[in-house]
Amino acid sequence: MKFFSASNVRDDIKKFERKYKRYYPIFLLLESLFLTTNVLTPLLIKKTIDSAFYRGSVEEVALFSILYFVVLVSQSFIMYRLNFSVAKHLLNASRAKESKGAYAKILTLPLSFLNSRNTGDYLSIFMRDIPKVASGVYLARLQFFFNLGFFLVVLSLLFILNVKLALVVLASIVLFFVSTSILKKMVIRTSQRDQEAYQRFLKRSREVVEGTPVLKQFSGLLFLRDFLDSSAREWSRASIIHSTVNELSNRNIEMNRWVGSTIVLAFGVYLLWKGEISVGTLLAFESYMNWIYDIVRMALTGLTTFFSTVPNWENFTRVFSLPFERASGIDLERFEKLQLKNVHFKYDETPVLTGLNFEINSGDKIAIVARSGAGKSTLVSLFNRLLSPTEGEILINGVPIEQYSLQSLRRNIVLVRSNDILFDTTIKNNITLFEDFPEDEIENVLKMCECDFVKELENGIDTVVGERGTRLSDGQRQRIVLARALIRKPQVLILDEVTSGVDSETEEKILEKILNEIETVIIVSHRLSTIKKASRIIVLNDGRVEAEGTHEELMKKSPLYREIVKSQLMR
Ligand SMILES: Nc1ncnc2c1ncn2[C@@H]1O[C@H](COP(=O)(O)OP(=O)(O)OP(=O)(O)O)[C@@H](O)[C@H]1O
Ligand SMILES: [Mg+2]
Repeated sequence: MKFFSASNVRDDIKKFERKYKRYYPIFLLLESLFLTTNVLTPLLIKKTIDSAFYRGSVEEVALFSILYFVVLVSQSFIMYRLNFSVAKHLLNASRAKESKGAYAKILTLPLSFLNSRNTGDYLSIFMRDIPKVASGVYLARLQFFFNLGFFLVVLSLLFILNVKLALVVLASIVLFFVSTSILKKMVIRTSQRDQEAYQRFLKRSREVVEGTPVLKQFSGLLFLRDFLDSSAREWSRASIIHSTVNELSNRNIEMNRWVGSTIVLAFGVYLLWKGEISVGTLLAFESYMNWIYDIVRMALTGLTTFFSTVPNWENFTRVFSLPFERASGIDLERFEKLQLKNVHFKYDETPVLTGLNFEINSGDKIAIVARSGAGKSTLVSLFNRLLSPTEGEILINGVPIEQYSLQSLRRNIVLVRSNDILFDTTIKNNITLFEDFPEDEIENVLKMCECDFVKELENGIDTVVGERGTRLSDGQRQRIVLARALIRKPQVLILDEVTSGVDSETEEKILEKILNEIETVIIVSHRLSTIKKASRIIVLNDGRVEAEGTHEELMKKSPLYREIVKSQLMR
């Protein structure tokens, strides 16, 4: 899908540049110093040699030699290192900052949007697009403009030194351009021929293998020679031509340097002989010739690299143009009532909930029961706007749920899911998520969640749990996830199969405490002992409420409930 036209990308690039403008001066300064020393070296060679040759002044020779030495050292050592590390620093700074920005943006996207995309899409923005965008702007563009500017400076200098010889240099650069573009075309063409010849050879090989019975019967050696060998020879010829041209193209810059240097040297000696230039000027020209092709090549590389990052720009900026959740709104102070009115929900085109109506009041202890895949997890995600209904309305205390601020909604109505992850940090950080909570509160929730095992770990609550909490068992992980919710003292707690990995005895103890402590509890569970604790059970079927009541009532009146109890619930 195409999200951006070229002009949008241009605007985005401008915005991005404005953000990092303050880095430019130092970068430009260093780069200019580096390049100036490059321009200076051949000129100092000229000065040194001409002083010795034409004026015989020992002092001047000594002075220019020293200057030459200083410039060389500063150029290759100080400037190179400094320039390199500053560029790297800028690159890393922008990469880190943009990654953070992109991540903060992803946090504000509706869950339904994230659900419908691959995690890989987002990861690749961090891993591939952001680094490319950063290097595209910093390195590639600067590389292009710098080398272009540098080339123009050197060229003007050459024209000042000697017009005729400068024209020869210019002609050799033009030759470089022309030969580069011809060779590029040849590389593409010969590569195509190589591919085609290979395909033909492959096709014939397959036919020969398939036709082995026929060839055995008729002693097919001649056939092999004429049918297979000829195409093999054709392929190898095309292959050799392609690699030769490719090698030529790779060596093009050196060949041009040889040819260019030779022509400049020959023509320069002629001008020297005619007395139009000095020995120093000739040597300065030769010295410039050595790297002028590199400058041109780097400018071109910068340009192509920059244009090749345009798709990365598009991916990167796409994240910033996505719809985000409306976060502001009124505060939810006291939860009294949650009402669902004709609520529908679809993932893309697949309907999951099709017209739900029910109410949950403060103080209720509700269990939601349905077959697997019926939409329980989807339904409970609607209660704090992790998902939004595609049709119908959800009211809290009689006010549409969208009117509450997301922060206060999610602070008071907390959803815990069995697959909620732990991060690779300490147990304590996983519970607090880096918010400040008093130590005794942390201990308190650990007790509530029957987390005695934490004390036995080497570092107690400061034990690092490993990626996704892999160093803990499923049941231990789930209890820490639960503690993360409980420490926030929610008014409404929704548990979506949170204690499925905990043995039923421990689960019972935990639930007992939660039901006492938290005012309103909604539980999705596959365990009969858990469901029975609810004061009201809601049975879902085909996206609607099939029946409501206590366990005893439902056993009497709902065949679906009876069936689920019999076949799907653990006791
Ligand atoms: N992100 C998603 N994108 C598309 N379809 C989804 C997505 N998540 C769930 N579904 C589909 O929606 C339906 C309901 O899923 P949901 O997870 O709500 O069921 P559930 O009742 O919680 O099941 P379980 O008891 O197995 O946890 C399923 O058919 C599922 O395939
Ligand atoms: Mg589920």
